[in-house]
Amino acid sequence: MSHHDERTFVMVKPDGVQRGLIGEIVSRFEDRGLKLVGGKFMRIDEALAHEHYGEHEDKPFFDGLVDFITSGPVFAMVWEGADATRQVRAMVGETDPAESAPGTIRGDFGLDLGHNVIHASDHEDEGANEREIDLFFDDEELVDYGLDTAAWVYEEEDH
Ligand code: RTP
Ligand code: MG
Repeated sequence: MSHHDERTFVMVKPDGVQRGLIGEIVSRFEDRGLKLVGGKFMRIDEALAHEHYGEHEDKPFFDGLVDFITSGPVFAMVWEGADATRQVRAMVGETDPAESAPGTIRGDFGLDLGHNVIHASDHEDEGANEREIDLFFDDEELVDYGLDTAAWVYEEEDH
């Protein structure tokens, strides 16, 4: 174990896939120094959508959210690194792209709350990262390996 093994769940939503943003988004996390440990191009069915967004099931936007997230393929990923969940959320921006700073993913690629390009586990929701990783990935789908650049990303490398 090391200080930089925190894992977080990230997903390019159907709008991001259709707009050809998978590569750009993956590049941003690679460039930051995070380590990719899982990736899956897939379609979310109704049951998975309900489970993933269960916290919102009483909200007025829930049905539209489920329709959207099941409307086309998504690219689900697990990224690992120091403080990964909080750092990735900061890179994603605010829920509403219109309120997101330029330089963030939603601030650079979105304009509409309902089509905000990307999902990432909420760092303020304790354990959301682990729950979402378990929901989308089996253990054997997460790849255990050393990333050689880690010695340059982190001052003290202890892998
Ligand atoms: P996400 O879960 O998708 O990463 O987004 P988030 O944490 O930034 O925002 P959250 O509050 O979890 O909301 C989930 C998604 O629901 C849509 N939404 N619509 N119409 C509305 O008021 C409203 N509020 C939220 C957004 O697409 C948001 O990403
Ligand atoms: Mg959320």
